[in-house]
Amino acid sequence: MAEIGTAGVSVDDLTEAQAAVELARLAAAIDAANRAYHTEDAPEISDAGYDALKRRNADIEARFPLLKRTDSPSEQVGGAVSEGFGKVVHAVRMLSLENAFGRDEVAAFDERVRRFLNLGPEQALTYTAEPKIDGLSLSLRYENGVLVQAATRGDGEVGENVTANARTIADIPQNLVSAPPVLEVRGEVYMSHVDFQALNARAAAEGSKVFANPRNAAAGSLRQLDATITKSRPLRFFAYAWGEVSEPLAATQSGVIARFNELGFKTNPLTVNCSDTEGLLSQYDRIGAGRADLGYDIDGVVYKVDDLELQRRLGFRSTTPRWAIAHKFPAELAWTRLLAIDIQVGRTGALSPVARLQPVTVGGVVVSNATLHNEDYIAGRDSTGAAIREGRDIRVGDWVEVYRAGDVIPKIRDVDLARRPAAAMPYVFPDKCPECGSDAVREAGDAVRRCTGGMICPAQAIEKLKHFVSRAAFDIEGLGAKQIEMFFADDMLPVREPADIFTLAERDAANLAKLSHRDGFGEKSVTKLFQAIEDKRQIPLARLIFALGIRHVGETGSALLANHYVSWAAFERAMTEAEVGQGPEWEELNAIDGVGSVLAASAITTFHQAHERASLDRLVAQLQVQDAVMARTADSPVSGKTVVFTGTLEKMTRAEAKARAEALGAKVSGSVSAKTDLVVAGPGAGSKARQAEALGVEMIDEDSWLRLIGAA
Ligand code: IVH
Repeated sequence: MAEIGTAGVSVDDLTEAQAAVELARLAAAIDAANRAYHTEDAPEISDAGYDALKRRNADIEARFPLLKRTDSPSEQVGGAVSEGFGKVVHAVRMLSLENAFGRDEVAAFDERVRRFLNLGPEQALTYTAEPKIDGLSLSLRYENGVLVQAATRGDGEVGENVTANARTIADIPQNLVSAPPVLEVRGEVYMSHVDFQALNARAAAEGSKVFANPRNAAAGSLRQLDATITKSRPLRFFAYAWGEVSEPLAATQSGVIARFNELGFKTNPLTVNCSDTEGLLSQYDRIGAGRADLGYDIDGVVYKVDDLELQRRLGFRSTTPRWAIAHKFPAELAWTRLLAIDIQVGRTGALSPVARLQPVTVGGVVVSNATLHNEDYIAGRDSTGAAIREGRDIRVGDWVEVYRAGDVIPKIRDVDLARRPAAAMPYVFPDKCPECGSDAVREAGDAVRRCTGGMICPAQAIEKLKHFVSRAAFDIEGLGAKQIEMFFADDMLPVREPADIFTLAERDAANLAKLSHRDGFGEKSVTKLFQAIEDKRQIPLARLIFALGIRHVGETGSALLANHYVSWAAFERAMTEAEVGQGPEWEELNAIDGVGSVLAASAITTFHQAHERASLDRLVAQLQVQDAVMARTADSPVSGKTVVFTGTLEKMTRAEAKARAEALGAKVSGSVSAKTDLVVAGPGAGSKARQAEALGVEMIDEDSWLRLIGAA
């Protein structure tokens, strides 16, 4: 090959036209060599020959930068060892699925979808049903038919760049013929049972670590920094979803799957269309019955609305689509001895009983801890006092039945009284916090006993801090649960509350015993840590609210609060002025759709506790809190407006109208006030329309609304 065309000509002597031709030839030659090496496992040229091609390509590109091709080999890692994974911001968020655990929940899903779309029970609605593969999701980006990037899901918004590794997976095409210019194909990377067993046998023989299950093996293999290791681990891929696409792939979910097949992807052969829940459930039974013979792990069946226009209308909740659900298989079970019951204290002071078990394998995973929920659960009662397990209590020394379903922490389901040791005594739940000795009290209506120590309880403080730095909160690189424990216990550089994190660098600088002199830290890692902390001084409002760890205020609640109050100043003022149970601020908070009185009371209470409040003020003084504006919706005509729907809507259900308005950045409120910008009134609008008139708030009908948002 080195002798053909201009290959022997010095780069300096090439004309532009010659250079373009040679770059094309080099791209093809290097791609062929990559494929031979990575996917066909049959290298055609020597390493030195390969390097020479890459070098010549780089030299020509350096002289003619404008000729650099979009599929330039210099942008591809071709099996080289990558230096840590880069981050990839997903063009379209990677979502997860809501779970259903029984047939009723599937029926409820269908009802919810129909209600949202205003479809009666007799109206046709097609779903797809397909196995839920127990692997890890991967997003593949093709530009002009060329695989340019592969990224893991990460937190859904930012994943890891595993392009070099994905190129080693045989099921993943490197090039596509007649694909749209931009196409992101998403699916699951998994490992077959046979390959998993062979891999573990090899690892055991070499004395290295064995994987607990095929999913861990697949994840561990895909996330290898050295792509040659990934290549030696046989991974597979099923395509089932997509991210950014420059043109529609089909009109239905099943149409897209067919298109994926034509493009050369593997799709799951057990995917079918069903016209009703009966059909879904019988496919669930069929897939469940064949599960053991599939040769790879699945943990349920995914149902999706087939029509993509309906999917679009249904849209998304914060992290899951409304148009899909995962119907999980029942949990896997095993019996073992309960060795001890430990009490853990969480960030809200909850005392959680944890079962320490004689290790046992449950569905391929060794389990030695399980949750026991709360004191009633141990005693054999539910929260209303009714008997569970026919009233059988759980005692240390008992034989207990452990189960796990998917990712959730193992649980204890039953106890075998026939094998109970004679000396086993009923478990007495502590009424003092095991961490700080404060009273642990159980309020009426609460299933949980809580430590009353608040900030003086080290367990609560430390759990709050761990939550604060967790991935959905501040997500500070290099500051995880382990480091929090270390800093919390540290006398020289203590971190006892969130604000302390942001004064670490300053305190370290003033300190003689520098962090960089300690074991496990070096100049470089300390600089990196301080930079990572610095980077998070700017924080979006929703993340900050979530990070505070206020009881009952989760990710969704935080987003609702942030979108409503927009700025920290407004949120803080409202919480400070609000009174639980009454007054305009209380009304306003409760009028936010999705915010209930429990969340509202909890948020207000936090701001009214003097020491909590002081700690909060110290934290916020360290930060620049970013207002909540959804970037993508900032330019919509209703962005930032407060809208009230009233009367009967004829083109869509109230739920759909609200979801759409919110997706465009509007705030939807249940009541009309001076803060309302727009009232959308359908036939039969009553008191709200009158109030809008009285307040001089703009009022339009449904058609005008649809025109306004560009949906007419
Ligand atoms: S659809 C927008 N289909 O399950 C919805 N997911 O629990 C995108 N998964 O993160 C997901 N098999 O990793 C879909 N047939 C399937 C799936 C599947 C496995 C995984 C996926 C997702 C997780 C959610």
